[in-house]
Amino acid sequence: MRIESSGQVEHVGAVRVHPVRRMLELDSGARVPSRVKESVEPQRIERDVIAGIHQKMAIVLPIKDEDVKVFEGVLSGIPHDCLMIVMSNSRRGEVDNLKREQETLERFCVATKRDAIIVHQKDPRLAEALADCGYGRILDETSLVRSGKAEGMIIGILLAEVLGKDYVGFIDTDNYIPGAVWEYAQHYAVGFSLSQSPYVMARLLWRYKPKISGKLYFKKWGRVSEITNKYVNHFISTKGNFETDIIRTANAGEHAMSLQLAKKLTYATGYGVETQELMSIFEQFSGLGPVADRTIMEKGVDIIQTETINPHVHEEKGEEHLLQDMLVPSLSVIYHNPLCEQATRELITRQLVDLECIPRDGEVPELLILPPPETVDAGRFAGLVDRQLSEYAVPKGAAVRASLPAAVRRAQEAARLVFTDLDGTLLHPVSYSYAAALDSVRALQEANIPIVFCSAKTRAEQQVYRQELGIADPFVIENGAAVVVPKDYFRFSFSYSRTADDCFVIEIGSPYAEVKSKLKELCARPELQITCFGDLTTEEVSKVTGLNLVMAALAKQREYTETVTIEGDKKRVQATLAAIKEVGLGYTFGGKFYEVCLGADKGKAVKILMELFKLNSGDVYTIGIGDSLNDVEMLNAVDLPIIVQTVNKNWNKVNVKNLKRVTGIGPEGWARAASAVLAGSEQKK
Ligand code: GDD
Ligand code: MG
Repeated sequence: MRIESSGQVEHVGAVRVHPVRRMLELDSGARVPSRVKESVEPQRIERDVIAGIHQKMAIVLPIKDEDVKVFEGVLSGIPHDCLMIVMSNSRRGEVDNLKREQETLERFCVATKRDAIIVHQKDPRLAEALADCGYGRILDETSLVRSGKAEGMIIGILLAEVLGKDYVGFIDTDNYIPGAVWEYAQHYAVGFSLSQSPYVMARLLWRYKPKISGKLYFKKWGRVSEITNKYVNHFISTKGNFETDIIRTANAGEHAMSLQLAKKLTYATGYGVETQELMSIFEQFSGLGPVADRTIMEKGVDIIQTETINPHVHEEKGEEHLLQDMLVPSLSVIYHNPLCEQATRELITRQLVDLECIPRDGEVPELLILPPPETVDAGRFAGLVDRQLSEYAVPKGAAVRASLPAAVRRAQEAARLVFTDLDGTLLHPVSYSYAAALDSVRALQEANIPIVFCSAKTRAEQQVYRQELGIADPFVIENGAAVVVPKDYFRFSFSYSRTADDCFVIEIGSPYAEVKSKLKELCARPELQITCFGDLTTEEVSKVTGLNLVMAALAKQREYTETVTIEGDKKRVQATLAAIKEVGLGYTFGGKFYEVCLGADKGKAVKILMELFKLNSGDVYTIGIGDSLNDVEMLNAVDLPIIVQTVNKNWNKVNVKNLKRVTGIGPEGWARAASAVLAGSEQKK
């Protein structure tokens, strides 16, 4: 996608409110070798960045007696990788709308090979579980969950968390345009990718709201959001000396959040929910009231507003609904916010009286505000709903299992950690295939054992394999030149050198340009025959490596080290290597090529990551899997070093203490190593 460049961000304490940015292009093409980072000009967001976020995102679909045909259209617009959580409050009994929704969802999931869950908001077991976990305030006098889209949303947030997701987005099910639904989910991912903070909210503004049933409806509708925006902006303006109109999405039903933020907010019942989310952010994180959380204050909260291209066409629910169900609650949550100034309150009262929403001497009604979802004991909730999940799962019997929230799970279960080399180890030395190890990768993932790539490959190359295998763990690139950690991976802050895509990068080696300039001196010497990958065309790299053209292009996207070939007899090679050292560079031999670096250190990179994992999870037991000399530093740093066989069915000679040799070339050996790791886990239990 491509989005227009950002305007002036407004700061309200630690909250960064981003002005609305228009989406310019729904698809900005396939991956191109990265050029100079686009910063001021329209910004391009890579497909794989969006896809990576979708895999970690749940889309909550609230539904109350909507036309199932429309619902079906909405489902078809949700990107394939997002987990769908349908929260229904539809009529049951003789006319069982829930049943029709279940059948529609089931048909869709079977045909598209997807899993989803559908839950009825009034399921007594759900109410019981919530009460049991200290969230009884969401129940009404009949001891069932109160009616309302907001209540459905909160349960959606809790379920997204126990299903291990990192992001949650909301999409109404009365939307007539599947392409718009698809676009909303793209916007959410774009919003998250633009944020520098794990605490982020993406809110959408519609460019077009076509009139489908008379002028009045849409006129009013526009007025609701206009009025709500006006008073949220008034609220902000009274806090400083500058008037602002930065908020343009105060009622955005279509919005998404990182779960880390979603868990911290308070929620209004009914349709005041979206405005209250904003007010809750200002109340807790603007610094205008008591500081709620120091870490969040440090990282800041991003509110990203984007404008969509597709028109928003949805079911008409009537004018009364707009005023009484939407406007009154939205203004109520601004009015009753403890930080709201008297001046804003007076204006809101006057507005509601003018619109005849409240009597002349009437009070602005106060809504019930529900406490943050983080007050729910997540572990206990997971345990309780786990029993029901198989029933909620679609298709029936789909393996949707509750687990502890991602961060807690990592903390409790990352007692083991696998570092692995790629070329010749996880990837076959000749075919580059990981097929023989695929089942074992899945088994480790199921056991929640992180798989950390530690290879000479570039960040771009490793991203391809991480994505293909669904691996979201940190990784070490270019032979220990840098450690790359996905932004939300660890629950604490640590120092890093820069950010790239949605990752923190800890640099150990010097940048590529420095390595290259030193190599240039050597290339100029006729007695040394060095060929740098950087000087070859993609086709040439493809030819010497056996990589296909796409991977060869990614292999050329070097950020720190240079891959070289050295020609000549043994003596000439030795002389060249000595010359490389003389100019201050280092090198490793990966079996085919030499990797030349300045300060890169696989051992150091592994140790840095081990420290981060220890901080996150307490003591960890580390396993390293490699195949050649350039893995020695990694193998020496771990508790259990394992080596797989080379293409000749033997093991490279490496000097590593307590080394375990497994049979099997590359990925075949890797599978055996993984079995040993898992057997160890069994014993540990
Ligand atoms: N689970 C659940 N429970 N869903 C509900 C309930 C409920 O009690 N009530 C309504 N829904 C579902 C509807 O089926 C629909 O998919 C969605 O929630 C939104 O409800 P609408 O009644 O269609 O709301 P709207 O179109 O007037 O307002 C929408 O847009 C506003 C502005 O963006 C909503 O998303 C508002 O929340 C939003 O402020
Ligand atoms: Mg609607």
